Amino acid sequence: MMLETSVAVDPALIEEVRTGLQLMPKRLSSRFFYDAEGSRIFQAIMHAPEYYLTRSEYEILDTYKDDLLRLFAPADRPFELVELGAGDGLKTKLLLGHFHDAQADFAYVPVDISADALTGLVTDINRQWPDLRIRSRHDDYFNALEQLSDESDARRVVLFLGSNIGNFTPGDAVDFYGQLYDRLQPGDLVLTGFDLQKHPSIIHAAYNDQAGLTRDFNLNLLRRINRDLDANFDLDTFSHYETYNPENGEARSYLVSEKKQTVQIAELNMAVSFEPGEIIHTEISRKFTRAQIDDLAHRTGFSVTGWFTDANGYFADVVFER
Ligand code: AVJ
Repeated sequence: MMLETSVAVDPALIEEVRTGLQLMPKRLSSRFFYDAEGSRIFQAIMHAPEYYLTRSEYEILDTYKDDLLRLFAPADRPFELVELGAGDGLKTKLLLGHFHDAQADFAYVPVDISADALTGLVTDINRQWPDLRIRSRHDDYFNALEQLSDESDARRVVLFLGSNIGNFTPGDAVDFYGQLYDRLQPGDLVLTGFDLQKHPSIIHAAYNDQAGLTRDFNLNLLRRINRDLDANFDLDTFSHYETYNPENGEARSYLVSEKKQTVQIAELNMAVSFEPGEIIHTEISRKFTRAQIDDLAHRTGFSVTGWFTDANGYFADVVFER
């Protein structure tokens, strides 16, 4: 039976809520943070004083944009910049503008799971550089990778910026670069933004900002479930809790139930009970050492051909060559 006002709910979200909230401890993936409101909050996080990641990477790309172009552009062949998780493309636009002005022969292929972010980005780029070749894909990384194969003879340069890699478990990261290796051709490149291990207080603060943006970002997931799955989470009874473990480089985000309560999720015919102080784990943002990055490259068959950091040494943009 069809509902009269049926809206498209992401089937993956349904599955995640059904299984994740029955686990012990409970878990919901940060993958589902990025609805329109979540994407908006993330934009604000990128400007938060504590969230050094975006500024650090911006500095790197700005400082080394010329070196990057020399690395990316083969002698007589075009290249294709495939950006996984393009977001609003703030940092990418810096590169696009530079490559465009240098009259490099390239096309831009942004891939994102947020349709809203993607639409805005394409409109923006078309307006700013009408002659720049752009083909966007609304998809997740793995599906987009499937489609990478054999579409053109251009060298592929995959951009995976912003420490999005930090959301992967170590095993998933190896799988991911292994899949990239399989789909790329010899000489193709991957540029990844890695957040580096540093003073634990600096990292902890980045995910526990004073203005409460990170809290809103996490709580928005419950708001989304209320809306998409007709649930009744009372957002005033959940708070945000952050840990950073300097032994393994993992920042972890949790939502915490402030009291004993039962939440109804009508669309799933499901009731979820919480004890006071019970958590839902939402996100891992992993921080890397240089040795771990080298190891990731070598275990998946790549060689490291470029290593760029900001003046503080907080962040690294690393070029892997297939
Ligand atoms: C977009 C995954 C890189 O983990 O730093 C920001 C998301 N979470 N604040 C990160 C995020 C909390 C961000 N990534």
